[in-house]
Amino acid sequence: MTKRICIIGAGPSGLAQLRAFQSAAEKGADIPDIVCYEMQDNWGGLWNYSWRTGVDKYGYPNHASMYRYLWTNGPKEGLEFADYTFDEHFGRSIASYPPREVMYDYIEGRVNRAGVRDWIRFSTLVRDVRYEDGRFVVTTRNNKEDTESVEVFDHVIVASGHFSTPNVPYYPGFEGFNGRILHAHDFRDAREFIDKDILILGTSYSAEDIGSQCWKYGCKSVTVAHRTAPMGFKWPDNWREVHKLEKVEGKTAYFGDGTSKQVDAIILCTGYKHHFPFLPDDLRLRTANRLATADLYKGVVYTKNPKLFYLGMQDQWYTFNMFDAQAWWVRDVILGRIALPDQATMDADPKQREAEEDKIEDDYGCIEYQGAYVQELIDETDYPSFDIQAANEAFYQWKKHKKENIMTFRDHADYVSPMTGAKSPAHHTPWVEELDDSMASYLKA
Ligand SMILES: Cc1cc2nc3c(=O)[nH]c(=O)nc-3n(C[C@H](O)[C@H](O)[C@H](O)COP(=O)(O)OP(=O)(O)OC[C@H]3O[C@@H](n4cnc5c(N)ncnc54)[C@H](O)[C@@H]3O)c2cc1C
Ligand SMILES: NC(=O)c1ccc[n+]([C@@H]2O[C@H](COP(=O)([O-])OP(=O)(O)OC[C@H]3O[C@@H](n4cnc5c(N)ncnc54)[C@H](OP(=O)(O)O)[C@@H]3O)[C@@H](O)[C@H]2O)c1
Repeated sequence: MTKRICIIGAGPSGLAQLRAFQSAAEKGADIPDIVCYEMQDNWGGLWNYSWRTGVDKYGYPNHASMYRYLWTNGPKEGLEFADYTFDEHFGRSIASYPPREVMYDYIEGRVNRAGVRDWIRFSTLVRDVRYEDGRFVVTTRNNKEDTESVEVFDHVIVASGHFSTPNVPYYPGFEGFNGRILHAHDFRDAREFIDKDILILGTSYSAEDIGSQCWKYGCKSVTVAHRTAPMGFKWPDNWREVHKLEKVEGKTAYFGDGTSKQVDAIILCTGYKHHFPFLPDDLRLRTANRLATADLYKGVVYTKNPKLFYLGMQDQWYTFNMFDAQAWWVRDVILGRIALPDQATMDADPKQREAEEDKIEDDYGCIEYQGAYVQELIDETDYPSFDIQAANEAFYQWKKHKKENIMTFRDHADYVSPMTGAKSPAHHTPWVEELDDSMASYLKA
């Protein structure tokens, strides 16, 4: 009997899994029966932009966390698909930090060519998964048709992402704040904050990028409160980093260093939770957002039930090509090309990876660590090998450029593609001056 595989989510990770199976079929392999459930009406995951906040049009929590005017925050040379290069997709070389719409086009180009859309059941939310008698019983709701279905599978691959359910802390006085409090998940258009004084909590990518966006589009000032350490970039004059937020009263925010500031809005760039409301306790991954996820052998096999896989659950320097590396590897386990070891070996693996991660001293070490992980996986499958060191170098260059000037790092050229070896051109307009982030504008000569 043909095996049945359920993939949850058609974002970059789920699409990588579809492409992995399709590429095996293209080479003549017998592949299982594959069903991918996607709660949204289209593919692309977070890259499928939605103006909605709160709930989606069917009343379920809105998945989208991306915003208008979002440009990639890392060089595209670090995430390029090894089987489908940027040059191949766009027919020419493009600059290194494309806006969201350009990235979406690239993601879609590969799967359009692979012809895997028919494997996806759109507008269909996975509501429940149970492991019974050696198989998975999956309950889904097709929200377009308003119908519920139950199907049985041999394997489930969870590719539902982990940057969608906001981590929302409370600080004293929030309930009485006379302005807007929102999480980064609900941030959409920086123009909302023109001439406003904004306070940002958090010091990671959302804080840096949402603050930069608001500054670029004309907010009055940016104040960033850190609970651990400041970001420490050379910020513009109307940007200040302060200590931890203590409380708010009216519109005034008070900080741990004794200073205060009147603000119009508080944007909580306080990260996301791994959240799987459709999974019962025995199947649900519980992990921090880190490079070595808990309970996943090789970062993908759920050690408590090795018929269940998770993709893309790591904190991410590498993204698309790491999801590919994982998807090809999971495919080969399912196809019987890779054998899983005994339980003790599987249990020891994530612990060993955690211990290695704990020894890393800086971001450069993290990049190298994740690059080595991608290399480890691709060495064991037929995913096209690529120059991981060149991808690492692209990330190092990115870090250097950010340190030099946080508002111009996206203007740099000469990042080397790990797939083609070619250097990227400069974009036609500096990022701070480019207010139109459409694909048409980005790709114009
Ligand atoms: C604001 C922001 C900006 C980012 N920018 C970059 C960047 O510049 N470069 C980069 O490389 N990465 C970036 N990322 C990281 C991002 O995580 C990855 O690029 C990528 O989107 C992860 O893919 P994924 O498929 O694992 O998850 P997602 O993209 O989150 O896709 C998961 C999919 O699963 C579906 N789904 C979830 N639950 C269910 C369910 N119960 N039933 C059915 N379907 C379900 C969702 O609808 C979604 O389509 C960014 C993340 C955020 C939040
Ligand atoms: N343009 C882009 O491409 C772009 C833009 C935004 C985000 N992203 C992506 O989105 C993903 C998520 O990034 P993220 O920045 O949202 O999350 P994140 O990297 O997990 O960072 C969470 C931040 O929240 C802080 N924090 C957590 N709880 C807090 C609390 N109670 N009070 C104050 N601060 C708190 C953390 O501070 P501590 O350090 O003190 O723990 C940390 O600085 C990343 O993959 C990133 O690359 C990309």
